[in-house]
Amino acid sequence: MSESTLYERLGGEEKIHALATTIFDKHTGNAAVSNRYVNSDRDDVIRLVTEFICAGTGGPQTYTGRDMLATHRGMNVSEEEFVAVLDDIVEALNEHGVGRREQEELLMISWSLKPEIVRV
Ligand code: HEM
Repeated sequence: MSESTLYERLGGEEKIHALATTIFDKHTGNAAVSNRYVNSDRDDVIRLVTEFICAGTGGPQTYTGRDMLATHRGMNVSEEEFVAVLDDIVEALNEHGVGRREQEELLMISWSLKPEIVRV
């Protein structure tokens, strides 16, 4: 019996796009990080984050954005901002009814990226 990928268990691209949309909109409404996104192209960031999650969880998509270090280098992102972003992700996962195991897996991936995002 083969294990299904996290991508499949999250419900595929459409669900992941909906998740990425909720996450982005939470960031722009979260005082801890909202100023970071004032110049962002909403659709563009949502598209790239969707690709990133799809590709990183076992989906067939190709991620066409910059790597995490190149993206966040020079932003001087703080630990507090990183935690605020994870809080938004958890809220979005709960609102979308994502299961406990899938939440844990996605959060593990997120935490593993911290050295490429915080104070780089
Ligand atoms: C696990 C955590 C995170 C992941 C997976 C992540 C992922 C991404 C991805 C995939 C992009 C698009 C890449 C591209 O433009 O080529 C992006 C852009 C961005 N990230 Fe993150 N990010 C994370 C945490 C953070 C944090 C903590 C901040 C700061 C509050 C932040 C600020 C930004 C900003 C401002 C952009 C948009 C840049 C633009 O508009 O061009 N990110 N992120």
